[in-house]
Amino acid sequence: MVNKFYPETFLKEPEPTIGGVNISYLGEKYGTPLYILDKKTLVIQAQKYINSWKTYYKNEYKVLFAVKALPVLEVIRIFHNLGLGILVSTGGELYISRAAGVNPQSIYFHGNAKTLKELEYAINENIAGIIIDNFDEFEKIKYLVNKKNTRTNVLVRIIPNIEVKTHTSIRTGQTDTKFGLPIVQAYDLIKKILQEKNLNFKGIHSHIGSQIFDITAYVKLAEVLSEVYKDLKDSTKVQEMSIGGGLGVAYTSEDNPPEVEDLAKEVSAKFKETVGHSFTIICEPGRSLVGRAGITLYRIESRKELPNVRKYVAVDGGMSDNIRPSLYGAKYSALVISKDQNHVTTYSIAGKHCESGDILIKDFIDSWPKVGDYLITFTTGAYNFSMFTWYNATLRPAIVLVDNGEDKLIVKRDSYEDLLRGQI
Ligand code: LLP
Repeated sequence: MVNKFYPETFLKEPEPTIGGVNISYLGEKYGTPLYILDKKTLVIQAQKYINSWKTYYKNEYKVLFAVKALPVLEVIRIFHNLGLGILVSTGGELYISRAAGVNPQSIYFHGNAKTLKELEYAINENIAGIIIDNFDEFEKIKYLVNKKNTRTNVLVRIIPNIEVKTHTSIRTGQTDTKFGLPIVQAYDLIKKILQEKNLNFKGIHSHIGSQIFDITAYVKLAEVLSEVYKDLKDSTKVQEMSIGGGLGVAYTSEDNPPEVEDLAKEVSAKFKETVGHSFTIICEPGRSLVGRAGITLYRIESRKELPNVRKYVAVDGGMSDNIRPSLYGAKYSALVISKDQNHVTTYSIAGKHCESGDILIKDFIDSWPKVGDYLITFTTGAYNFSMFTWYNATLRPAIVLVDNGEDKLIVKRDSYEDLLRGQI
Protein backbone atom coordinates (compact mmCIF):
# COMPACT_ATOMS: atom_id res chain seq x y z
CA MET A 1 0.00 0.00 0.00
CA VAL A 2 1.22 3.51 -0.76
CA ASN A 3 1.44 5.51 2.42
CA LYS A 4 -0.43 8.82 2.64
CA PHE A 5 2.74 10.52 3.81
CA TYR A 6 4.86 9.43 0.82
CA PRO A 7 5.79 12.13 -1.69
CA GLU A 8 4.07 11.56 -5.08
CA THR A 9 7.14 10.03 -6.73
CA PHE A 10 8.51 8.08 -3.77
CA LEU A 11 9.14 4.38 -4.41
CA LYS A 12 10.28 2.02 -1.68
CA GLU A 13 11.21 -0.95 -3.89
CA PRO A 14 13.58 -2.21 -5.17
CA GLU A 15 15.58 0.59 -3.57
CA PRO A 16 14.08 3.83 -2.20
CA THR A 17 13.88 6.50 -4.91
CA ILE A 18 12.28 9.93 -5.15
CA GLY A 19 11.69 11.91 -8.34
CA GLY A 20 13.33 8.99 -10.15
CA VAL A 21 16.58 9.43 -8.19
CA ASN A 22 18.10 6.83 -5.87
CA ILE A 23 18.00 8.20 -2.33
CA SER A 24 21.25 6.56 -1.13
CA TYR A 25 22.95 8.12 -4.16
CA LEU A 26 21.72 11.56 -2.99
CA GLY A 27 23.20 10.83 0.44
CA GLU A 28 26.58 10.02 -1.11
CA LYS A 29 26.51 13.03 -3.44
CA TYR A 30 25.32 15.76 -1.05
CA GLY A 31 26.04 14.36 2.41
CA THR A 32 23.60 14.19 5.32
CA PRO A 33 21.43 15.38 6.97
CA LEU A 34 19.80 16.32 3.69
CA TYR A 35 16.38 17.79 2.95
CA ILE A 36 15.03 16.34 -0.31
CA LEU A 37 12.06 17.95 -2.08
CA ASP A 38 9.89 16.31 -4.71
CA LYS A 39 8.92 18.92 -7.30
CA LYS A 40 5.98 16.89 -8.56
CA THR A 41 4.33 16.92 -5.12
CA LEU A 42 4.73 20.70 -4.88
CA VAL A 43 3.13 21.19 -8.29
CA ILE A 44 0.30 18.72 -7.66
CA GLN A 45 -0.60 20.31 -4.32
CA ALA A 46 -0.64 23.82 -5.82
CA GLN A 47 -2.79 22.63 -8.72
CA LYS A 48 -5.25 21.02 -6.31
CA TYR A 49 -5.83 24.40 -4.67
CA ILE A 50 -6.14 26.25 -7.97
CA ASN A 51 -8.44 23.72 -9.61
CA SER A 52 -10.69 23.32 -6.57
CA TRP A 53 -11.43 27.03 -6.21
CA LYS A 54 -11.83 27.33 -9.97
CA THR A 55 -14.43 24.55 -9.87
CA TYR A 56 -16.44 25.60 -6.85
CA TYR A 57 -16.04 29.35 -6.36
CA LYS A 58 -17.84 31.49 -8.88
CA ASN A 59 -15.78 34.62 -8.44
CA GLU A 60 -12.09 35.43 -8.20
CA TYR A 61 -9.88 33.41 -5.85
CA LYS A 62 -6.33 33.89 -4.63
CA VAL A 63 -4.13 31.11 -3.28
CA LEU A 64 -1.26 32.52 -1.25
CA PHE A 65 1.68 30.33 -0.25
CA ALA A 66 2.35 30.97 3.46
CA VAL A 67 6.06 31.28 2.90
CA LYS A 68 6.97 30.72 6.58
CA ALA A 69 6.49 26.99 5.94
CA LEU A 70 9.44 26.88 3.52
CA PRO A 71 11.07 30.21 2.64
CA VAL A 72 13.22 29.01 -0.23
CA LEU A 73 13.72 30.94 -3.49
CA GLU A 74 13.27 28.00 -5.83
CA VAL A 75 10.08 26.85 -4.08
CA ILE A 76 8.62 30.37 -4.18
CA ARG A 77 9.45 30.61 -7.88
CA ILE A 78 7.74 27.27 -8.63
CA PHE A 79 4.54 28.39 -6.89
CA HIS A 80 4.59 31.91 -8.27
CA ASN A 81 4.99 30.56 -11.82
CA LEU A 82 1.88 28.45 -11.24
CA GLY A 83 -0.06 31.60 -10.31
CA LEU A 84 0.12 31.56 -6.52
CA GLY A 85 0.60 34.71 -4.47
CA ILE A 86 2.63 34.85 -1.27
CA LEU A 87 1.72 35.50 2.37
CA VAL A 88 4.58 36.92 4.43
CA SER A 89 4.72 37.56 8.16
CA THR A 90 7.96 39.55 8.48
CA GLY A 91 10.18 41.92 6.55
CA GLY A 92 12.58 38.99 6.11
CA GLU A 93 9.95 36.86 4.40
CA LEU A 94 9.03 39.83 2.22
CA TYR A 95 12.68 40.25 1.29
CA ILE A 96 13.06 36.58 0.32
CA SER A 97 9.84 36.67 -1.70
CA ARG A 98 10.92 39.78 -3.59
CA ALA A 99 14.36 38.23 -4.18
CA ALA A 100 12.54 35.27 -5.75
CA GLY A 101 11.00 37.72 -8.20
CA VAL A 102 7.46 37.71 -6.79
CA ASN A 103 5.28 40.54 -8.09
CA PRO A 104 4.57 42.81 -5.08
CA GLN A 105 0.92 42.92 -6.13
CA SER A 106 0.73 39.20 -5.24
CA ILE A 107 2.09 39.67 -1.72
CA TYR A 108 0.08 40.02 1.52
CA PHE A 109 1.63 40.77 4.90
CA HIS A 110 0.20 39.61 8.23
CA GLY A 111 1.62 39.55 11.78
CA ASN A 112 0.75 40.84 15.24
CA ALA A 113 3.83 43.00 15.94
CA LYS A 114 4.97 44.51 12.68
CA THR A 115 7.59 47.17 13.22
CA LEU A 116 7.55 50.63 11.69
CA LYS A 117 10.49 49.57 9.54
CA GLU A 118 8.71 46.47 8.24
CA LEU A 119 5.57 48.43 7.45
CA GLU A 120 7.57 51.10 5.67
CA TYR A 121 9.26 48.40 3.60
CA ALA A 122 5.88 46.87 2.65
CA ILE A 123 4.42 50.27 1.75
CA ASN A 124 7.46 51.16 -0.35
CA GLU A 125 7.19 47.86 -2.19
CA ASN A 126 3.51 48.58 -2.87
CA ILE A 127 2.34 45.09 -1.90
CA ALA A 128 -1.22 43.87 -2.48
CA GLY A 129 -2.35 44.19 1.12
CA ILE A 130 -1.25 44.75 4.67
CA ILE A 131 -3.37 42.73 7.09
CA ILE A 132 -3.82 45.00 10.10
CA ASP A 133 -3.79 43.11 13.38
CA ASN A 134 -4.36 45.85 15.98
CA PHE A 135 -4.93 49.58 16.60
CA ASP A 136 -1.26 50.37 17.16
CA GLU A 137 -0.41 48.97 13.77
CA PHE A 138 -3.16 51.14 12.24
CA GLU A 139 -1.52 54.22 13.80
CA LYS A 140 1.88 53.24 12.39
CA ILE A 141 0.51 52.70 8.88
CA LYS A 142 -1.49 55.92 9.04
CA TYR A 143 1.65 57.84 10.05
CA LEU A 144 3.66 56.30 7.20
CA VAL A 145 1.16 56.76 4.37
CA ASN A 146 0.47 60.35 5.38
CA LYS A 147 4.16 61.14 5.67
CA LYS A 148 4.79 59.74 2.20
CA ASN A 149 1.44 60.84 0.85
CA THR A 150 0.90 57.46 -0.74
CA ARG A 151 -2.04 55.05 -0.67
CA THR A 152 -1.94 51.50 0.60
CA ASN A 153 -4.38 48.58 0.66
CA VAL A 154 -5.32 47.12 4.02
CA LEU A 155 -7.35 44.24 5.41
CA VAL A 156 -8.37 43.68 9.02
CA ARG A 157 -7.80 40.44 10.93
CA ILE A 158 -10.72 39.30 13.06
CA ILE A 159 -10.88 36.73 15.84
CA PRO A 160 -13.64 34.41 14.65
CA ASN A 161 -14.09 32.61 18.01
CA ILE A 162 -13.62 29.15 16.59
CA GLU A 163 -11.64 26.63 18.58
CA VAL A 164 -10.11 23.85 16.49
CA LYS A 165 -8.69 20.51 17.54
CA THR A 166 -4.95 20.91 17.12
CA HIS A 167 -1.87 21.55 19.27
CA THR A 168 -2.47 24.58 21.56
CA SER A 169 0.64 26.35 20.20
CA ILE A 170 -0.80 26.44 16.68
CA ARG A 171 -4.44 27.37 17.45
CA THR A 172 -5.31 30.92 16.54
CA GLY A 173 -9.07 31.34 16.09
CA GLN A 174 -10.24 31.04 19.71
CA THR A 175 -11.41 33.93 21.89
CA ASP A 176 -8.11 34.22 23.78
CA THR A 177 -5.42 34.73 21.15
CA LYS A 178 -2.70 37.24 20.40
CA PHE A 179 -3.74 37.40 16.73
CA GLY A 180 -6.39 39.78 15.41
CA LEU A 181 -9.19 41.71 17.06
CA PRO A 182 -12.59 40.71 18.45
CA ILE A 183 -15.19 41.40 15.75
CA VAL A 184 -16.72 44.44 17.52
CA GLN A 185 -13.30 46.07 17.87
CA ALA A 186 -12.51 45.21 14.25
CA TYR A 187 -15.61 47.20 13.23
CA ASP A 188 -14.28 50.22 15.15
CA LEU A 189 -10.95 49.85 13.40
CA ILE A 190 -12.63 49.63 9.99
CA LYS A 191 -14.54 52.86 10.75
CA LYS A 192 -11.23 54.58 11.43
CA ILE A 193 -9.69 53.15 8.24
CA LEU A 194 -12.59 54.41 6.14
CA GLN A 195 -11.90 57.95 7.33
CA GLU A 196 -8.33 57.85 6.02
CA LYS A 197 -7.85 59.06 2.46
CA ASN A 198 -4.57 57.20 2.10
CA LEU A 199 -5.93 53.84 3.23
CA ASN A 200 -7.92 51.61 0.93
CA PHE A 201 -9.95 49.09 2.93
CA LYS A 202 -10.08 45.82 0.98
CA GLY A 203 -11.50 43.26 3.33
CA ILE A 204 -11.37 40.80 6.18
CA HIS A 205 -8.73 38.30 7.18
CA SER A 206 -8.97 35.27 9.47
CA HIS A 207 -6.95 32.17 10.31
CA ILE A 208 -8.13 29.50 12.75
CA GLY A 209 -4.96 27.47 13.25
CA SER A 210 -2.71 24.89 11.68
CA GLN A 211 -2.69 21.10 11.08
CA ILE A 212 -6.51 21.06 10.97
CA PHE A 213 -8.34 17.90 9.89
CA ASP A 214 -11.91 19.04 10.36
CA ILE A 215 -13.49 20.84 7.40
CA THR A 216 -16.54 21.80 9.47
CA ALA A 217 -14.32 24.33 11.31
CA TYR A 218 -13.88 26.15 7.98
CA VAL A 219 -17.61 25.97 7.31
CA LYS A 220 -18.19 27.62 10.70
CA LEU A 221 -15.61 30.23 9.73
CA ALA A 222 -17.47 30.89 6.48
CA GLU A 223 -20.62 31.47 8.56
CA VAL A 224 -18.82 33.98 10.77
CA LEU A 225 -17.33 35.76 7.75
CA SER A 226 -20.77 35.90 6.14
CA GLU A 227 -22.17 37.65 9.22
CA VAL A 228 -19.31 40.13 9.12
CA TYR A 229 -19.96 40.72 5.42
CA LYS A 230 -23.62 41.46 6.13
CA ASP A 231 -22.77 43.77 9.03
CA LEU A 232 -20.39 45.80 6.84
CA LYS A 233 -22.53 45.85 3.72
CA ASP A 234 -24.06 49.24 4.38
CA SER A 235 -20.87 51.06 5.34
CA THR A 236 -18.33 49.67 2.87
CA LYS A 237 -17.69 47.20 0.10
CA VAL A 238 -15.76 44.16 1.26
CA GLN A 239 -13.77 43.09 -1.78
CA GLU A 240 -11.71 40.28 -0.27
CA MET A 241 -12.16 37.70 2.49
CA SER A 242 -9.42 35.36 3.65
CA ILE A 243 -10.11 32.04 5.34
CA GLY A 244 -6.42 31.68 6.26
CA GLY A 245 -4.44 28.47 5.93
CA GLY A 246 -4.18 25.48 8.20
CA LEU A 247 -5.24 22.36 6.32
CA GLY A 248 -3.46 19.38 7.86
CA VAL A 249 -1.27 16.69 6.34
CA ALA A 250 -0.55 13.06 7.24
CA TYR A 251 2.57 12.49 9.32
CA THR A 252 1.68 8.89 10.19
CA SER A 253 -0.71 6.28 8.82
CA GLU A 254 -3.17 7.17 11.60
CA ASP A 255 -3.59 10.71 10.26
CA ASN A 256 -6.53 11.28 7.91
CA PRO A 257 -6.29 14.79 6.49
CA PRO A 258 -9.20 16.05 4.39
CA GLU A 259 -8.92 16.70 0.67
CA VAL A 260 -8.08 20.20 -0.54
CA GLU A 261 -11.05 19.88 -2.88
CA ASP A 262 -13.45 19.39 0.03
CA LEU A 263 -12.25 22.61 1.68
CA ALA A 264 -13.05 24.63 -1.45
CA LYS A 265 -16.29 22.74 -2.03
CA GLU A 266 -17.71 23.11 1.48
CA VAL A 267 -16.62 26.71 1.99
CA SER A 268 -17.95 27.75 -1.42
CA ALA A 269 -21.27 26.02 -0.70
CA LYS A 270 -21.64 27.82 2.63
CA PHE A 271 -20.96 31.25 1.11
CA LYS A 272 -23.35 30.50 -1.74
CA GLU A 273 -26.07 29.84 0.82
CA THR A 274 -25.34 32.96 2.92
CA VAL A 275 -24.01 35.98 1.02
CA GLY A 276 -23.16 34.50 -2.37
CA HIS A 277 -19.76 34.59 -4.03
CA SER A 278 -19.75 38.36 -3.89
CA PHE A 279 -16.05 38.90 -3.08
CA THR A 280 -12.62 37.51 -3.92
CA ILE A 281 -11.81 34.56 -1.71
CA ILE A 282 -8.29 34.15 -0.35
CA CYS A 283 -6.73 31.05 1.18
CA GLU A 284 -3.20 30.79 2.59
CA PRO A 285 -1.88 27.23 2.70
CA GLY A 286 1.63 26.50 3.92
CA ARG A 287 1.96 22.98 5.29
CA SER A 288 -0.46 21.35 2.84
CA LEU A 289 1.51 22.75 -0.13
CA VAL A 290 4.99 21.67 0.95
CA GLY A 291 4.77 19.19 3.86
CA ARG A 292 4.48 15.92 1.97
CA ALA A 293 6.94 17.04 -0.74
CA GLY A 294 9.84 16.89 1.72
CA ILE A 295 11.81 14.04 3.25
CA THR A 296 14.95 14.22 5.37
CA LEU A 297 17.84 11.82 4.90
CA TYR A 298 20.09 11.03 7.87
CA ARG A 299 23.05 8.74 8.42
CA ILE A 300 23.03 6.43 11.38
CA GLU A 301 25.96 7.24 13.65
CA SER A 302 25.52 5.04 16.71
CA ARG A 303 23.31 2.42 18.35
CA LYS A 304 22.90 1.23 21.89
CA GLU A 305 20.87 -1.27 23.80
CA LEU A 306 20.02 -0.51 27.42
CA PRO A 307 19.19 -3.96 28.82
CA ASN A 308 15.49 -4.24 29.69
CA VAL A 309 15.03 -0.51 29.06
CA ARG A 310 15.23 0.63 25.43
CA LYS A 311 17.21 0.49 22.23
CA TYR A 312 18.46 3.72 20.67
CA VAL A 313 19.60 4.52 17.17
CA ALA A 314 21.20 7.96 16.84
CA VAL A 315 21.36 9.95 13.60
CA ASP A 316 23.56 12.84 12.44
CA GLY A 317 20.79 15.47 12.79
CA GLY A 318 17.77 15.95 15.03
CA MET A 319 16.14 18.89 16.75
CA SER A 320 18.20 21.41 14.78
CA ASP A 321 16.73 20.33 11.43
CA ASN A 322 13.37 19.17 12.84
CA ILE A 323 12.35 20.83 16.08
CA ARG A 324 8.72 19.72 15.83
CA PRO A 325 8.95 16.48 17.89
CA SER A 326 10.61 18.31 20.81
CA LEU A 327 8.47 21.44 20.50
CA TYR A 328 5.01 19.95 19.91
CA GLY A 329 5.46 16.22 20.55
CA ALA A 330 4.89 15.85 16.81
CA LYS A 331 4.94 12.31 15.41
CA TYR A 332 6.79 11.29 12.27
CA SER A 333 7.15 8.22 10.07
CA ALA A 334 10.50 6.87 8.96
CA LEU A 335 12.21 4.16 6.95
CA VAL A 336 15.62 2.58 7.36
CA ILE A 337 17.57 1.90 4.18
CA SER A 338 19.37 -1.22 5.23
CA LYS A 339 20.71 -4.27 3.49
CA ASP A 340 19.67 -6.41 6.43
CA GLN A 341 15.87 -6.48 6.44
CA ASN A 342 15.66 -9.54 8.69
CA HIS A 343 16.13 -8.33 12.19
CA VAL A 344 13.08 -6.13 12.83
CA THR A 345 12.88 -4.61 16.30
CA THR A 346 11.63 -1.60 18.29
CA TYR A 347 13.90 1.36 19.06
CA SER A 348 13.88 5.11 19.49
CA ILE A 349 15.48 7.36 16.90
CA ALA A 350 17.58 9.93 18.71
CA GLY A 351 19.08 13.15 17.40
CA LYS A 352 22.67 14.20 18.03
CA HIS A 353 21.93 17.29 20.14
CA CYS A 354 22.81 17.81 23.78
CA GLU A 355 19.32 17.44 25.12
CA SER A 356 17.50 14.29 26.24
CA GLY A 357 14.35 15.58 24.56
CA ASP A 358 16.04 15.39 21.17
CA ILE A 359 14.21 12.24 20.08
CA LEU A 360 12.83 12.22 16.55
CA ILE A 361 10.67 9.10 16.91
CA LYS A 362 9.92 7.07 20.02
CA ASP A 363 9.20 3.34 19.71
CA PHE A 364 9.91 3.04 16.03
CA ILE A 365 9.71 -0.43 14.48
CA ASP A 366 11.99 -1.37 11.57
CA SER A 367 15.13 -3.40 10.86
CA TRP A 368 17.98 -2.86 13.30
CA PRO A 369 20.37 -0.78 11.20
CA LYS A 370 24.14 -0.61 10.98
CA VAL A 371 26.27 2.49 11.45
CA GLY A 372 26.44 4.21 8.07
CA ASP A 373 22.99 3.06 6.95
CA TYR A 374 20.57 5.78 5.89
CA LEU A 375 17.31 6.69 7.54
CA ILE A 376 14.48 8.68 5.93
CA THR A 377 11.90 10.69 7.84
CA PHE A 378 8.80 11.69 5.89
CA THR A 379 6.64 14.83 5.68
CA THR A 380 9.46 17.19 6.57
CA GLY A 381 8.78 19.79 3.87
CA ALA A 382 6.97 22.25 6.15
CA TYR A 383 8.33 23.99 9.27
CA ASN A 384 11.56 21.98 9.38
CA PHE A 385 14.04 24.01 7.33
CA SER A 386 12.25 27.23 8.34
CA MET A 387 12.47 26.40 12.05
CA PHE A 388 16.10 25.32 11.87
CA THR A 389 18.05 26.17 15.01
CA TRP A 390 21.81 26.19 15.15
CA TYR A 391 21.96 24.85 18.70
CA ASN A 392 25.30 23.06 19.20
CA ALA A 393 26.66 25.13 16.29
CA THR A 394 25.01 22.78 13.86
CA LEU A 395 25.42 23.26 10.12
CA ARG A 396 22.13 23.92 8.36
CA PRO A 397 21.51 21.04 5.91
CA ALA A 398 21.34 21.47 2.15
CA ILE A 399 18.11 21.16 0.16
CA VAL A 400 17.99 19.19 -3.07
CA LEU A 401 15.07 19.33 -5.49
CA VAL A 402 14.37 16.17 -7.49
CA ASP A 403 12.29 15.82 -10.61
CA ASN A 404 12.18 13.40 -13.55
CA GLY A 405 15.39 11.58 -12.67
CA GLU A 406 17.34 14.78 -12.01
CA ASP A 407 18.59 16.34 -8.79
CA LYS A 408 19.40 20.01 -8.26
CA LEU A 409 20.94 21.71 -5.25
CA ILE A 410 18.66 24.62 -4.26
CA VAL A 411 20.10 25.51 -0.82
CA LYS A 412 23.77 24.95 0.02
CA ARG A 413 24.82 23.24 3.22
CA ASP A 414 26.33 25.60 5.81
CA SER A 415 30.07 25.49 6.32
CA TYR A 416 32.05 26.06 9.53
CA GLU A 417 32.82 29.60 8.28
CA ASP A 418 29.07 30.31 8.15
CA LEU A 419 28.99 29.75 11.92
CA LEU A 420 31.19 32.80 12.39
CA ARG A 421 29.11 35.10 10.17
CA GLY A 422 28.49 38.34 12.03
CA GLN A 423 30.59 37.37 15.04
CA ILE A 424 33.20 39.87 16.14
N1 LLP B 1 -2.06 32.13 7.42
C1 LLP B 1 -1.69 32.61 8.62
C2 LLP B 1 -2.19 33.91 9.05
C3 LLP B 1 -0.82 31.87 9.42
O1 LLP B 1 -0.46 32.35 10.60
C4 LLP B 1 -0.35 30.62 8.98
C5 LLP B 1 0.54 29.81 9.80
C6 LLP B 1 -0.76 30.16 7.71
C7 LLP B 1 -1.62 30.93 6.97
C8 LLP B 1 -0.29 28.84 7.16
O2 LLP B 1 -0.75 27.77 7.92
P1 LLP B 1 -0.54 26.25 7.44
O3 LLP B 1 -1.35 26.08 6.17
O4 LLP B 1 0.89 26.05 7.18
O5 LLP B 1 -1.06 25.45 8.55
N2 LLP B 1 5.32 26.03 13.34
C9 LLP B 1 4.05 25.35 13.41
C10 LLP B 1 3.02 25.93 12.47
C11 LLP B 1 2.77 27.40 12.71
C12 LLP B 1 1.77 27.99 11.76
C13 LLP B 1 1.77 29.47 11.85
N3 LLP B 1 0.86 30.12 11.00
C14 LLP B 1 4.27 23.86 13.13
O6 LLP B 1 5.39 23.46 12.88
O7 LLP B 1 3.32 23.09 13.22
